[in-house]
Amino acid sequence: MKSVAEQHFSRELLSWYRANKRTLPWRANRDPYRIWVSEIMLQQTRVDTVIPYYERFMDRFPTIRALAEAPEPEVLKCWEGLGYYSRARNLQAGARMVMELYGGEVPDDKTSVAGLKGVGPYTSGAIMSIAFNRPEPAVDGNVMRVLSRYFCLEEDIAKPKTRIGIEKLAVSLIPEGAAGDFNQGLMELGALVCTPKSPSCLLCPVMEHCAGRIAGKEHELPIKTKAKPPRPEHRVAAIIVGSGANAGKVLVRQRPETGLLAQMWELPHLLLSKEQSYLLAIDGAAANEQAAAGELLTKAVEAETGLLIRPRKWFMDAEHVFSHIHWTMRFYLADLGAEDYSLAAESAAAYETGGETSSEAVEQPYRWIGPKDMETLAFPNLFLRILREYWD
Ligand code: ADE
Repeated sequence: MKSVAEQHFSRELLSWYRANKRTLPWRANRDPYRIWVSEIMLQQTRVDTVIPYYERFMDRFPTIRALAEAPEPEVLKCWEGLGYYSRARNLQAGARMVMELYGGEVPDDKTSVAGLKGVGPYTSGAIMSIAFNRPEPAVDGNVMRVLSRYFCLEEDIAKPKTRIGIEKLAVSLIPEGAAGDFNQGLMELGALVCTPKSPSCLLCPVMEHCAGRIAGKEHELPIKTKAKPPRPEHRVAAIIVGSGANAGKVLVRQRPETGLLAQMWELPHLLLSKEQSYLLAIDGAAANEQAAAGELLTKAVEAETGLLIRPRKWFMDAEHVFSHIHWTMRFYLADLGAEDYSLAAESAAAYETGGETSSEAVEQPYRWIGPKDMETLAFPNLFLRILREYWD
């Protein structure tokens, strides 16, 4: 038997959602593929940020087949700037699974959907409920916040056990035949009303029976133990400016097949050891007189490419915070050391560009690029910012 508070919650949330839902591009219909893509994009990213990416992605890959058959670099390029790029690779791998195993249609079956690459319990619940109206829970951080407050739950939401408990609770609240709207209502309430820092309790459709508010704990809940802060990494990077046949170009490299920012392109950079990190404490302008960072960079680039560079001038500092690493990176403009250059070209493996051998040959993952190449190669935001600044 459901309590008055439970019945109130289910009924009021559903009617509030139906009256107040935002018009969002993935709500235009219930195509499971469209919903799948939206839920993957929305996992770590705000709605406002997602919308233009989503529209571009759906234009470019309107069907599962289109996504499955696309070259992976194009998919990455379309995702460029959204971050967490393994989402894009997994989504494409999932689309390929749907082509191979399910004839190109997302199956109306929870176990099959949950078995797709990149689809965890939240996403499978969202797809099953929104696309197929199946009574499955779709519990993410926002939903845990809403339910922790409404039911005044004081368990730590960072613990898997708490999440499992909240999933059970969420299923029990789904009104008959309205799983999709109810689950979206929970997400919508978390996004618009029951927000993390300053919940708008007075506007909330379920305030009357909200146990967290009644206990005066709406600001304390949910309880969440803090994740470890990201580990700092200090790095120096080079904008290596081409000459001769490569005038106007810079040298970039592709990251390895797996790991952080897999297969994305970047400027060459190296990690400073703990003892070397002090090099970045000196401010940028003064760094011009600082030979040590430039020498490290020179050695590292030579070891990897066979090219001898001459760091010339500090360009800028930039930061990027990933979920587990915090990069602080200092960029130097660098020339090629002309006198050593023929030697370097001989020792490095020939790199072919469009049938021509580049005069400054470098190892495979390296490439000389101009502004036009930015339209096809995918760069993490940090490097996009630097390269745009450089070419502007
Ligand atoms: N956040 C996660 N999924 C969402 C959805 N379907 N609509 C709005 N915000 C969301």
